[in-house]
Amino acid sequence: MVMFEKPTDEVAELLPETEAHIDSVIERYRDYVNPGLAKLMQFAGFADVEVEAQGCVITTASGQRYLDFVGGYGVFSVGHRHPRVVAAVHEQLDRMPLSSRTFFNEVQARLAEELAHIAPPGVRYSFFCNSGAEAVEAALKLARKATGKTGFVSTEGSFHGKTLGALAVTGREKYRKPFEPLMPGTTFVPFNDLDAAIRAVNSDTAAIIIEPIQGEGGIHPAAPGYLKGLREICDERGILLIADEVQTGLGRTGAMFAVEHDGVSPDILTLAKALGGGVMPIGVCMGTAAVWERVFEENPLVHTSTFGGNPLACAAGLAAIEVTKQERLCERATARGEQLMAGLREVQATMPEALTAVRGRGLMIGAEFAVKDVAELTINGMSRRGIIAAYTLNNPKVIRFEPPLIVTEAQIAEAVDAFRESVTEAAAMLEGMEE
Ligand SMILES: Cc1ncc(COP(=O)(O)O)c(C=O)c1O
Repeated sequence: MVMFEKPTDEVAELLPETEAHIDSVIERYRDYVNPGLAKLMQFAGFADVEVEAQGCVITTASGQRYLDFVGGYGVFSVGHRHPRVVAAVHEQLDRMPLSSRTFFNEVQARLAEELAHIAPPGVRYSFFCNSGAEAVEAALKLARKATGKTGFVSTEGSFHGKTLGALAVTGREKYRKPFEPLMPGTTFVPFNDLDAAIRAVNSDTAAIIIEPIQGEGGIHPAAPGYLKGLREICDERGILLIADEVQTGLGRTGAMFAVEHDGVSPDILTLAKALGGGVMPIGVCMGTAAVWERVFEENPLVHTSTFGGNPLACAAGLAAIEVTKQERLCERATARGEQLMAGLREVQATMPEALTAVRGRGLMIGAEFAVKDVAELTINGMSRRGIIAAYTLNNPKVIRFEPPLIVTEAQIAEAVDAFRESVTEAAAMLEGMEE
């Protein structure tokens, strides 16, 4: 186990050359990447430069070691630089990193087969791409082609990506508005409201798209029976169910796929983040034989991607699945998730006014605050205590906990302690300011 040391928060202790290096990287972000983002990251307490990572620990240029409780929003399920994934990628790199796209590629074929084995029943074929949003784009196109219809029902607070199609079904106006008009025909309904979904489906609806646990919306798990209900609506109305498991997929919630908790099989399933084993970017849009027939039979090239299914990413994907199975990461996510949930709920019990809810499944847990500022100060406090945390994109009142699934009992305890101290400190700070 990598030993964890608390950072000191004493920038003055840094060697001048280290400080100058950090400043120069931040300056380049300000000058050449995104000035507002640079400011935001500094304000959140992340004015440092990442240098290397291993397991659950990220080391920065200033020599601080942080426990990663954001986990790349679901990317680092097997941890950072898992030796099995790194070895598989190295081996592939030495042979053939990218596909000629003329011959058959064995690694892609094996990953597709492996995915079909672990996917919910009936979900069989894979279209490979490079990110979550691309997987969602594929899902939307496939649903349209398979049904001959164009509309979608999505949920308020949902997050499906920021490319134009994925954005059109993302339930946050703040991100959609500046880019309108988007793809028309999406109806947004409240999450976990089955009646609203029933009312929203019309003769032009191609599919309902749903996250089994809304991630960026603030870690909202589907209520019991909700996904089953959606499945029934889809069957009755002859439309498709798209499960967006970009963030929940591959063990995060205590099952390979979160829809398994409800015994539901979608027609189309998207997966990305964790599939790259924390080493490579990869996305995949999977679907049933019925969907594939209707989409690809006429023209197998109707949807393609140059880099999609490249051997390097597929080698990482195969290793990620192998590690998830061999190291029993679903069971570990459940056990460590229960520990984390219990710890956070204990903190909540001591300050129920400030901390209004703790919810989630497996190692996808959110803590909701009454006031956004307390959440922000808590994130900052946790970073000073050596724990990386972040809020959810569509709901800044919620701090998310998505550590690697290999996280240890001691590391969870460490994070809960840091959370307790940081919330207490943040609440006191704000009270002091109000007086
Ligand atoms: C459920 C879900 N779908 C899609 C996406 C978009 O993925 P990407 O950022 O890889 O495009 C995300 C990203 O957070 C997500 O959580």
